[in-house]
Amino acid sequence: MFEIRYARAEDIGAIEALERDNAQNPWHAAMFEAELRNKFAHLLCAVKNDKIVGLCDIHIVYEDAHINDICVAKEQRREGIATALTESACRLAASNGCAAVTLEVRAGNGPARCFYDSLDFKEISRKRAFYTDPADDAIVLQKSF
Ligand SMILES: CC(C)(COP(=O)(O)OP(=O)(O)OC[C@H]1O[C@@H](n2cnc3c(N)ncnc32)[C@H](O)[C@@H]1OP(=O)(O)O)[C@@H](O)C(=O)NCCC(=O)NCCS
Repeated sequence: MFEIRYARAEDIGAIEALERDNAQNPWHAAMFEAELRNKFAHLLCAVKNDKIVGLCDIHIVYEDAHINDICVAKEQRREGIATALTESACRLAASNGCAAVTLEVRAGNGPARCFYDSLDFKEISRKRAFYTDPADDAIVLQKSF
């Protein structure tokens, strides 16, 4: 079992390590610390056996909601953790008056695209050469509530 809760300042070291080991272009500690100070940001984490095994960062700016980052530890994948994180983020967005949530995913990130498909996210546009290291397009996905 795991729980989803807001991240706290004392979690940042574990969150940075999780991101470093699991994300293609990892965020650094200072970026996560900035999210804790940003009134539009909601940084959620998944905790299993007292260990942080997943994170999701969403910005909710009035009626606009955008997921900026989501990742789950390799050993803990396919347990529904990212689904639970995304559903929590969507509930936060809906309760703040948003009708939809958007995000960008690398065109070449097959596993993540399958994951978003499983949650009924739909492609709404494509941003050519949006990513670097390596270069890739971004697919913009949206899920309406
Ligand atoms: C994408 C990611 C967040 C999914 O996390 P997860 O906790 O394993 O996802 P879930 O267990 O909630 O998966 C739910 C469903 O999504 C789909 N899915 C998830 N990972 C998949 C994969 N590797 N291949 C195919 N489908 C997948 C499946 O339908 C899955 O349901 P199932 O396990 O019953 O078949 C995780 O693989 C990850 O951290 N990847 C690296 C970081 C990343 O790419 N983040 C996204 C950036 S936009």
